[in-house]
Amino acid sequence: METIKRICRKCKPHARFAVIGFVALILANATRLILPLISGWIVDDVIKGGILEKLPGFCAAILGLTVLRAVCNYIRGVSFEKLSQNYVYDLRTGLYRHLSEMSYSFYDKNYIGEIMSRMTGDIEGIRNLLAGGVVQICENCIWFFGSLILLFFINWRLALVMVLIAPIVAVVALKFHSKIHVAFKDVREQNAVLSTKTQENISGVRVVKAFAQEEHEKKAFSVENREQLRLLLKTTYIWSDYVPLLDFLGAFCTPLLLGIGGAMVIGGSMSLGDLVSFTGYIWMITDPMRILGNLINMLTQAITSAEKLFYYEDLGAEIRDKDKTNFPRPFRGHVQFEHVTFGYGDETVLRDFCLDVPAGTTCAIMGATGTGKTSVVNLLGRFYECREGHVRIDGVDVKDMPLKALRDRIGYVMQETFLFSETIENNIRFGRPNAEFPVVESAAKAAQAAEFIGEMPQGYDTVVGERGLGLSGGQKQRVAIARALAYDPTILVLDDSTSAVDMETEHEIQMHLKKELRDRTTFIIAHRISSVKSADQIVVLKDGRIYERGTHDELLEKKGLYYEMYQDQYRDFANITARRAAAAAAPSEVV
Ligand SMILES: Nc1ncnc2c1ncn2[C@@H]1O[C@H](COP(=O)(O)OP(=O)(O)OP(=O)(O)O)[C@@H](O)[C@H]1O
Ligand SMILES: [Mg+2]
Repeated sequence: METIKRICRKCKPHARFAVIGFVALILANATRLILPLISGWIVDDVIKGGILEKLPGFCAAILGLTVLRAVCNYIRGVSFEKLSQNYVYDLRTGLYRHLSEMSYSFYDKNYIGEIMSRMTGDIEGIRNLLAGGVVQICENCIWFFGSLILLFFINWRLALVMVLIAPIVAVVALKFHSKIHVAFKDVREQNAVLSTKTQENISGVRVVKAFAQEEHEKKAFSVENREQLRLLLKTTYIWSDYVPLLDFLGAFCTPLLLGIGGAMVIGGSMSLGDLVSFTGYIWMITDPMRILGNLINMLTQAITSAEKLFYYEDLGAEIRDKDKTNFPRPFRGHVQFEHVTFGYGDETVLRDFCLDVPAGTTCAIMGATGTGKTSVVNLLGRFYECREGHVRIDGVDVKDMPLKALRDRIGYVMQETFLFSETIENNIRFGRPNAEFPVVESAAKAAQAAEFIGEMPQGYDTVVGERGLGLSGGQKQRVAIARALAYDPTILVLDDSTSAVDMETEHEIQMHLKKELRDRTTFIIAHRISSVKSADQIVVLKDGRIYERGTHDELLEKKGLYYEMYQDQYRDFANITARRAAAAAAPSEVV
C-alpha cells in the first residue's frame, strides 16, 4: 500500500489528467451500467407490455449513451496516456538527476547494468500500470460493484448468490498476489543480474576475445539466462495455478445465475425483463473475477518495479552540500591535507597524511601501485570524504564548500581515460560547453593533440566512438589533457595522464604545459621520474604515508626510495642505450 500511495503522490503534478481521465472513465462505465436496465425495460414494457410508444425513447437513450461512452473513452484514453507519459518523464528525470548526484561510493557498489535495467524495464512497468492497468482495474471495480448494487435492486436473492461466491474469489486472489509478488521480485532481481552480465561482457568484449573466453562467457551468460527462464517459468506456474481457477469461478457464476434466475422467472417471482437485465450484468460481475489474476499480475509487476526505483530515490547522496557553505574568494588553490585518514570499507589507505601545496606550485606524487595516489587527489574534489583530518583549500575545508563551485575550479585528467561518443571538439570543451574554438584549439596544442587531430579526415569534428575507440591510448590521454586545460582550472590534477604517451611526446607535452601550469596548482601522479623531476615538491607514498618528500635533487641526495626508482629507471635507460649502440655496431647479429 505504501508503494501505491507513493506512486499516487507522484501523480500530483499531473492531477488534472488523472481527474479528467477518472471522470471520463466513470461516465463511460456508468453508461454501460445503464444499458442492461434499458434492455430489461424494452422486454417488459415494449415486447411484453406492448407499449410501442416507449420504443423510440429507449432507442434514442441507447444511441445517446453509446455516443457518450465513445466520447468518454476517447477522453479517458488520451488523459491516462498523458498522465503516464508525464509521470514517467518526471520519474526518469528525477532518477537521472538523483543518480548523477550520487557519490563515487554508490557506483562502487552498484552495477551499471542493474541501474540500466531499472531505468528502462522498471520504469516501463510503471508506465504500463498507469496507461492501461489503472484503467482496467477501475473499470472492473466499477462494473463489479455497480452491477452488484443494481442487481440488489433488481432481485436481492439472486444478487446474494453472487455475494456468497465473491469471498472465495477474494481469498484465491489474495493468495495469488502474495505468491506472485515474491516471484516477480526474483524476476526483476535476476533481470538486473542479466543486464549487468550483458553490459559487462559487451563493454569488455575485447578482453573476452583477447583471452579467448567467449565460450566461458557464453556459458556464464547461459547460467544467468537459464536462471531468468526458471524464475519466469515459476511465475508462469503460479499464474497457471491460480488464473484458471479464478477464471473458472467467474465463468461458473454464469450458468448458476441463469439457472436460478430462469427458475425464478418460471416460478413467477421475477419478470423476464429483470432476467434480461440480470444477464446483461452477469458478465460485468464475472469478467472482473475472471481477469482478476491478470490485474493482480500487472499491479504486482508495477509495484515490484516501483519498489526498486524508490529504493534508489531513498538512498540519498552521501556527499552533498552542507546547509551553510563557505567558499574562498579569491580561489587561489593553496591545498593542505591535515592529518588525513582515509580508506574504503574496512581498508585504510591513507594514515595521518599531511601535505602542503602552496598555490601555483606543482606537487608530484609517486609510489608503488595501490599506495593511494589516486585516493589523495579524489579527496581533493571531495569524491570521497576523509575519515579523519581535513583537506583544505585556501584555508577552507572542502567539506564546507559548495560541491559545484569546488569542482568547477579543479580539472582532472583521470587515470582511466573516458571520452564521450562525440566529436573531439565537444570532448575537449566538455567542461566548458561555451568555450570558443580558439580555446579548444590552444588546449589541444598544449596537450600535443593538435597535430594528430589535424591529420584526421574530419579534424576536430571527428566523432570518437564509445570510449574513444577510434583513438590510440596515447591520443585519448592527450584529448583528456586538452579537456582539462580547456576547463581552465585553478587546480589541475594529472593522474598518470601520460602513461600511454612515448617519452618524447611526454617531454613535448611538459614543455607546453609549463606555460599552462604557471599559475595553477598542479598535482602530477606518475611512475616515470622524467614526468615529475621538475615539480616544486615530490612526495613518495608508502603504506599510506608520505615516505619521502623534497625536490628532485633533494630526494636524489637522500638516496632513499626515490633514488632507487631513479636508479632503476636510469639503469633501464642505460641498458636500452647500450643495446642500441650494440645493435648499431653489429646489425646482422641482432634479431
Ligand atoms: N573504489 C574503491 N573501492 C575499494 N577500494 C579501492 C577503491 N579504489 C581504490 N581502492 C583501494 O585503495 C588502495 C589505493 O588505491 P589507489 O587507486 O588510490 O592507488 P594508486 O596509488 O592510485 O594506484 P595506481 O598507481 O595503481 O593507480 C588500493 O589498495 C585499492 O585496492
Ligand atoms: Mg591511481
